Amino acid sequence: MNYPELDRERLPRHVAIIMDGNGRWANALGLLRSAGHTAGVKTLKKILQTAVNLELEALTVYAFSTENWKRPLAEVDFLMHLFSDYLEKEKLEMHANNVRIKFLGRTEEFSPLIQSQIRDAEHLMRNNTGVRFDIAANYGAQDEIVRAARRIAADVLDGRLALDGINEKVFEAALDTCDSPPVDLVIRTGGDMRVSNFLLWQSAYAEFWFTQTNWPEFTPEEFVEALVDFGKRERRFGAIKSS
Ligand code: FPP
Repeated sequence: MNYPELDRERLPRHVAIIMDGNGRWANALGLLRSAGHTAGVKTLKKILQTAVNLELEALTVYAFSTENWKRPLAEVDFLMHLFSDYLEKEKLEMHANNVRIKFLGRTEEFSPLIQSQIRDAEHLMRNNTGVRFDIAANYGAQDEIVRAARRIAADVLDGRLALDGINEKVFEAALDTCDSPPVDLVIRTGGDMRVSNFLLWQSAYAEFWFTQTNWPEFTPEEFVEALVDFGKRERRFGAIKSS
């Protein structure tokens, strides 16, 4: 697909998406929340394909937060089946598209089946050079930061790292996202304007784009609209405005 309004020179390197509004979309249509999640997977497939077509460097999506376990058991079970199905059905196509998948978060708390599917998918695509596709699952940014701090503290205690050696680079290398570029653009669907414990460190200088559209209705066209808008922003990274 061709997007003439999009300046390829001004694309973000890394886009992160909070895919919100599945439940509300389903409720509004008199459907079960699970139908919203199923529709959400279809949207995700289209947006990943668009990222592939545009040759984005990195796309990260928030699929399940450390707080999402508090949802009714039936919904959590449904989401787990959806992740498992998604990995099984989509991994070969992602691989064919040169996508490199990686999971962020405490994946060791998922079922043995999902853990092995995650390992298989990551292993299959480990040498791919196209879009870096990170899925935050059982993820919370504060939890990620605490885990990173523990890793660094262990290195200091074991004498592998001096206290003075702790800096931003060392910290970044201890995060789950150690091999991704900083986040340039965060998109949140579903109308809420909050960060919800997503990539707090990595989005320090990110631009934000919010839309009322619920995730199941988010389209590649609206995704491109966000990218076009990003291209018009002046990013100063804390410096003064240029005259
Ligand atoms: C937020 O909508 C969405 C989630 C908690 C789950 C996101 C999952 C998907 C988009 C599909 C599965 C993903 C993968 C990687 C296979 P919500 O349920 O909080 O909606 P609401 O705010 O309207 O209730």
